[in-house]
Amino acid sequence: MARPVATLIFAMVITPALAIANSPVINATCAALTPQLYEYCVGVLSADPAATNATDAHGLATAAVNITADKAAATLQVITYLISELNTCQDIYARMEEGLANVLTDIRDGRFKSAMLEMDVNVTGSPNGGCDIMLFEGNAQKDPISEENTQNDLWASLADAILETIERNVSKRGT
Ligand SMILES: *[C@@H]1O[C@H](CO)[C@@H](O)[C@H](O)[C@H]1NC(C)=O
Ligand SMILES: *[C@@H]1O[C@H](CO)[C@@H](O)[C@H](O)[C@H]1NC(C)=O
Ligand SMILES: *[C@@H]1O[C@H](CO)[C@@H](O)[C@H](O)[C@H]1NC(C)=O
Ligand SMILES: *[C@@H]1O[C@H](CO)[C@@H](O)[C@H](O)[C@H]1NC(C)=O
Ligand SMILES: *[C@@H]1O[C@H](CO)[C@@H](O)[C@H](O)[C@H]1NC(C)=O
Repeated sequence: MARPVATLIFAMVITPALAIANSPVINATCAALTPQLYEYCVGVLSADPAATNATDAHGLATAAVNITADKAAATLQVITYLISELNTCQDIYARMEEGLANVLTDIRDGRFKSAMLEMDVNVTGSPNGGCDIMLFEGNAQKDPISEENTQNDLWASLADAILETIERNVSKRGT
């Protein structure tokens, strides 16, 4: 009865509990599937009250479809939250781009103080303080752009720090 190692690893990774078919219906129904599916089938169905209650394969199919529907509904909810939260990030990033365009104009025209002010008010902190914290605390509890937010904030801080040294130099010369 030696099972292939790959099947064992597969089962260990995805079965919630040790696969013991204490329901004869679950055991028989799962045994009729491919050997690769047996452990997973027994593991997940044995953990579900409706499935352990089932008296035949029809009942198990109903339970499995119902569980799938519940899980899909939960994922749909996460997607809905995520779309809403990412829409907010879209607005934050659009404002940030406008701010950066203004900063470029200020630099080109030598208005470093104004450039710094615009960086502080409309750019620096937008990715992390605006978008990322909102995603972190949001209902989706997923942050697909955490890495990007961090990188963008680092770049904004770097640009701001350079502007600051220039501005310090300019005001020193002015006095
Ligand atoms: C599960 O079913 C298989 C195949 O019918 C059988 O060999 C095995 O003894 C059963 N195991 C349990 C725990 O009922
Ligand atoms: C399982 O069956 C028992 C007895 O028929 C019933 O009381 C219980 O509500 C059922 N549980 C589920 C989850 O279907
Ligand atoms: C499906 O699962 C829900 C709970 O998640 C339960 O209320 C409902 O009765 C189940 N439906 C069937 C057909 O098993
Ligand atoms: C920030 O952006 C808004 C909207 O574009 C603009 O009205 C405001 O002047 C900007 N703030 C600074 C300090 O540049
Ligand atoms: C500061 O001013 C000095 C003298 O004008 C100049 O050599 C230096 O490059 C300036 N540094 C920065 C960061 O602007």
